[in-house]
Amino acid sequence: MSLSMFQNSSLQVSDTYVLGIETSCDETSASVVRGRNDVLSNIVSSSLKLHVPYGGVIPEIASRAHVESICSVVDNALKVAGVSSDKLSLIAVTQGPGLIGSLLVGISFARSLSLGWKIPLIGINHVRSHLYAAFLENEVSCPFVGLVVSGGHTSLYNVKNLGKEELMGSTRDDAAGEAFDKVAKILGLGYPGGPIIEKLAKTGKPRAYAFNCDCGSGLDFSFSGIKTAVLYKTKYLKKIYNDISQEMICDICASFQYAVVNDLVTKCVRAAKKAKAGIIAVGGGVASNGSLRDKLESAARENGFRLFIAPKAYCLDNGAMVASLGARLFEAGISKKLLKLDPMSG
Ligand code: KG4
Ligand code: ZN
Repeated sequence: MSLSMFQNSSLQVSDTYVLGIETSCDETSASVVRGRNDVLSNIVSSSLKLHVPYGGVIPEIASRAHVESICSVVDNALKVAGVSSDKLSLIAVTQGPGLIGSLLVGISFARSLSLGWKIPLIGINHVRSHLYAAFLENEVSCPFVGLVVSGGHTSLYNVKNLGKEELMGSTRDDAAGEAFDKVAKILGLGYPGGPIIEKLAKTGKPRAYAFNCDCGSGLDFSFSGIKTAVLYKTKYLKKIYNDISQEMICDICASFQYAVVNDLVTKCVRAAKKAKAGIIAVGGGVASNGSLRDKLESAARENGFRLFIAPKAYCLDNGAMVASLGARLFEAGISKKLLKLDPMSG
C-alpha cells in the first residue's frame, strides 16, 4: 500500500489501524492505535531488571533482550487489540535516536513485517514521539512549545506545525533523567533513580540544601553541576557524621528534585513566552514525576497557558506514542520514509 492509497482510500482516519514498535533502549514495546490516538493495546516488556546490577543500561544486554521478546510483544499487541495483520494500514517504528543494537532489532523486525504483509513502513524520531505523547488523549493544536525530558534528552521545541519542530534549547551535558539516575547512584539507591528519588523526596525537606542547576537566562539546561554538588555534599556529610542518615538522604532527594523541577518549569514558561505560544506540551520519562506535573500545572495556570502532559502510562518508552505519531504524520502526508539509520538523530 502506498502513501497516496492511505490518503485517498475511502477509509476514514478512525478506521485506520497503525502498529507502533519501539526498541530504542531497554523497553521492547508494541501498540495498535486506531485513528490518531485511540490506543487499543500497548504492550511493554522491559529488560530493566537485567541492568539494575550495573546501575545503568548495558546496550548488549538490552539488544539481546529485544531479540528474545519482540515476537511475543508484537503478537500480544495485535491479540489484545483484536486486530489481524490484514487490517493494519501502517507500521511505524522508532528509527532513532537510541542504542544502535536495540534500534536494529525493532527496525529489522518492522521491515520484515512490512515486506511480508505488504504494509507501508515509516521511521519515527524517538524524541518527537515523546513530545507528541502529550497529545495521546487529545488532538494536537499547533503552535505549541514542547519539553521532552527523559533519560537521554532534555530539549525545548517551538512547534509551529505538526512535524516542524524548532529546537529552542537543550542540555549542554547530562539529561535530567540521567541526573536523577546518577544522583541515585551516588546515594546508593539503585536504578532507575527517578522513581526512587521521587518517593524519598516526599519525606524530605526541599530547601534543606541549596542545590541549583541554573544555566543562565537562556533556554539551555545543565545538570552535571548539580550532580557534582550532590556528590560533594554526600561526601561531606559522610565525613562529618561518619555516615549519612536516612533523613539526610531524603533531604538531598527533596532538595535535588526541587532544584531540577524548578529549572524545568522556569525554562518551559520562558520558552512559551519567547515563542508567544499559548500551549505547553511535555513528555518523556521524567514527565511522570508528580512534583514536576504539579508545578507545571500551577505555572501554566498562573501564566495563562494550556498544558498537555503525556499521560503517566505513556511517559516512559512505549509503542503507543510511536503508532500515534506515525498515524498523524502519515495522514498529513509528511511521513519520513525509513531511508537511513542514524542512532544519534533518528
Ligand atoms: O523516556 P525514558 O523511558 O527513556 C529515555 O528515552 O531516556 O526515560 C527514562 C528516564 C530515566 O532516567 C528515569 O530515571 C526517569 O526517566 N524517570 C523519572 C521518573 N520516572 C522515570 N525521573 C523522575 N521522576 C520519576 N518519577
Ligand atoms: Zn525515551
